[in-house]
Amino acid sequence: MFSLISTILFYSFLVYCVLSFIKKNKKRTKNDPPMPSFNLPFLGSTYRFESSVVQSLLKFTKQYGKVNALWVGDLYTLNVADAVYIKEIWTKHIDNFIDRPNTKILAALSDDHTGLIGSGGKEWNRNKELIGGYFSSLKLKSQLPRISELCMQTIDKLTKQPNTPINPRGVFREYSMDVNTGLILSLEPSQMNKQYREMEGRFDRFLHGNSPASLFYCIDILSILFSYKFTDARKQRQYLIDYVKSIYDDHVSTLDPEKPRDLMDKMIMEEGDEMSIINTVIDFYLGGVDTTALVLQLFFLSVTNNEGVQDKVYEELKSLASKRQSELGLDSTTEPYQFTFADRLETPYLNAVIKESLRIYPPTPNSILRECNQDIMVGDYFIRKGAMVIQNIWAVHHDEDYYPEPNKFIPERFLEDNHASHYFPFGIGGRSCPGSNVADITLFLLCANLLSRFKIKSEDGGSNIKCDIKDGIMLHLSPFKVLFDQR
Ligand code: HEM
Repeated sequence: MFSLISTILFYSFLVYCVLSFIKKNKKRTKNDPPMPSFNLPFLGSTYRFESSVVQSLLKFTKQYGKVNALWVGDLYTLNVADAVYIKEIWTKHIDNFIDRPNTKILAALSDDHTGLIGSGGKEWNRNKELIGGYFSSLKLKSQLPRISELCMQTIDKLTKQPNTPINPRGVFREYSMDVNTGLILSLEPSQMNKQYREMEGRFDRFLHGNSPASLFYCIDILSILFSYKFTDARKQRQYLIDYVKSIYDDHVSTLDPEKPRDLMDKMIMEEGDEMSIINTVIDFYLGGVDTTALVLQLFFLSVTNNEGVQDKVYEELKSLASKRQSELGLDSTTEPYQFTFADRLETPYLNAVIKESLRIYPPTPNSILRECNQDIMVGDYFIRKGAMVIQNIWAVHHDEDYYPEPNKFIPERFLEDNHASHYFPFGIGGRSCPGSNVADITLFLLCANLLSRFKIKSEDGGSNIKCDIKDGIMLHLSPFKVLFDQR
């Protein structure tokens, strides 16, 4: 009996392997995008991956062209590294590519595609409508004084012991969390942070223990065998939901329709569904906190490790500060000038440095995956329903056709040209990052006010921060410390 069962299992496995092999190596149409000619059952094309996914996808792009297909495990995937084609898909054909992949892990992580990041179709449209223009530059104007205050507190925290090296990540995380908290839930930073810190471990476990990009989740048979992982991911999300639910109840009972306080009030007033509001709020934290902290770390790396950049930024800021001080009749010898967001219009070099930093290190190198919801021809290529679609921001930002010497940090390139058609750290189109204006403000205020007061140095007082950069859904940096030299 046992041997009969083993024989049946063995042959079923064999048949499965053969069918999977045929499926992954057969062309569907003559317009299929080019792809590796040999793909394995289970692993698909990923047996050719190196440890870095970004570098592996670049290799595929070099070999098969800027629009190519591959099998990530059992998922047919389109790797789009062409800026013009990206525009076609993410703007012109957005309705066909508005959804996130319908994978088990994403369902588990997003409370069954509720909220914003993991949702699609009607749920996404409705939530997007509820948010409306809440994060538009005009709406954010009223928040500028509060963000400026948080920025100055952050600089104080960073520089309070100027001769002691500090790892800035935690302080940056607090800054971006406090900025987001005010906008989304209007809780006092200290009030939120106390509870938030309790959750931080859970957030980290939630994000890093359950990366939907892991190959593990892309192989059907493994996801059946290890379904407990999905149960765990659901539990983690539920913990976050329970926490935000208590804040939701409080908001409902204290809401004054004449004076909406924050995003949650706005969504309640627009009669959003309770679970959608709660999950959307969670998504704004998941989308906004680590990304902003990461960008600030990457900015530190860029300006410190590239000789002369900080001094040039400093000279620009110094000259603008003295112009402003004389316009405002302020005494430049007592108090350093505090830069406001409006000053950005007169800091072209700093703006170019921030842009170059986001170009060379796009924090989400492959954006967040989308799914094709209908068979479609886009340009010369046929894209099949269910294909997972990668917006390969990294490849575009390192494409020699757009950026000569792409691996060199050259802010000046953004002084001559804004490179708008092939620069999209925040994605592109109707589902691009809704927090990009918040990120712009947070970054500019911190960079301008810090670099006008301090020079950043590496831990040993030099100008070479040693840091490994690994990729995933987001870039991961090995911890590093810096020193601040008063100007
Ligand atoms: C410099 C920092 C940031 C970068 C580089 C970044 C980048 C991105 C990218 C590439 C996407 C995917 C867009 C797509 O699917 O096409 C995204 C989505 C998202 N981001 Fe950001 N982001 C940043 C900061 C923020 C901030 C500060 C917030 C919150 C205030 C935020 C909230 C979100 C949300 C909620 C989504 C999901 C949108 C959706 O699915 O419709 N992000 N972001």
